[in-house]
Amino acid sequence: MMKKKFFNAKFYRNDAASEMIVENGKILQIGTNLPQCEEEIDLRGKLVLPPYVDPHLHLDYVYTLSELGQEGAGSGTLFEAIELWPKFKETLTVESVKRLALKGIKDEVSQGVQHIRTHIDVTDPNFTALKAMLEMKEELKDTVDIQIVAFPQEGMYMYKGGRDLVEEALKMGADAVGGIPHYEPAREFGEKSVHDIVELALKYDKLIDVHCDETDDPHSRFVELLNALVLMEDYGSRTTASHTCSFGSADNSYAFRMMDLFQKSKMNFISCPTENAYLQGRQDTYPKRRGLTRVKEFLDLGINVAFAQDSINDPWYPMGSGNMMNILDNGIHLAQIMSPEEVATNFDLITYNGARCLNIQDQYGLEVGKQANFIVLNESSVYEAIRKRVDVLASVRNGEFLFRRKEVEYDIPLSL
Ligand code: FE2
Repeated sequence: MMKKKFFNAKFYRNDAASEMIVENGKILQIGTNLPQCEEEIDLRGKLVLPPYVDPHLHLDYVYTLSELGQEGAGSGTLFEAIELWPKFKETLTVESVKRLALKGIKDEVSQGVQHIRTHIDVTDPNFTALKAMLEMKEELKDTVDIQIVAFPQEGMYMYKGGRDLVEEALKMGADAVGGIPHYEPAREFGEKSVHDIVELALKYDKLIDVHCDETDDPHSRFVELLNALVLMEDYGSRTTASHTCSFGSADNSYAFRMMDLFQKSKMNFISCPTENAYLQGRQDTYPKRRGLTRVKEFLDLGINVAFAQDSINDPWYPMGSGNMMNILDNGIHLAQIMSPEEVATNFDLITYNGARCLNIQDQYGLEVGKQANFIVLNESSVYEAIRKRVDVLASVRNGEFLFRRKEVEYDIPLSL
């Protein structure tokens, strides 16, 4: 098999190397002054990162807002969108789900994403969306890795049988157990659902990713129970609490106690900066809350936190393009993380930290023996790349280009 050398690269978080040799899709060597290969590809001093990870996306919802021709949300609150969703859901078919999901996947892959965790609504006894996504996961595996969360959008206890649908979805092949405790009709049912989530994960050996406390209500504290249960079961690193917006409204005395426990459990967090900045704080007048969890404090304390897109043009959020650089840019503004030290590692929020949420850290990253998966950004320094929100020039998977694009040139007659 032919060896291939990528040279003149600026590797993220690895100043010691500038070249990489790939054989059979895997990284054979990484360093400097490596031996000559039959094929040599000049990366022209551009920044090379492992592929973007989008660890939280609703692929069965993408483009349902505009493509299904339904009316969008009126007031734009999270709970209003959840109430609207069943009307959309009625119209779904396996074909329509696949057609729209593919658009969303193309958006993401064409902008450097190679790993997606998607929450799929399983409060549908026909499992239309789940069947579609299980097929797509297999069909697209050479291009993108997809993890599926069995997500009870309409709750486990808002109606009879919700919990059992989640269990059935796990048997059908979903990778992770989801939940939405803050949407259950009473706190007790929210707590019951969290117990169910952990029990189901242990029973079927699945990951956990819960829509947890996606509300400004500081009394919504299901993250506390989830963390305690996975701490007890030593299951924190396989667990993710998504959103935890209420934790951004929590009192400090509570928050610091909890962050100590989060460090102990090693549970992961996902924040969706654009989505939650848009959805939360809606009932506030002024001051208006930002809707984000305590991203900066988590980073400072070594608690794993990643950023995610969450929605692309669905009843919850009309915007979204699958551009993780846009998510990062919004996130570092809202979380106020732009010191030189923070900027140096900001890309972790859409790469390595997401990989840890997905529990793929052992296969992910630019190291000898791992798959040669990486992206090339149109800048050579991390700071300039983030400041200018640069595009992805190329995405490489198993040593082959998924795409490459030319730099845009502007002909502007400006001179002094
Ligand atoms: Fe979500």
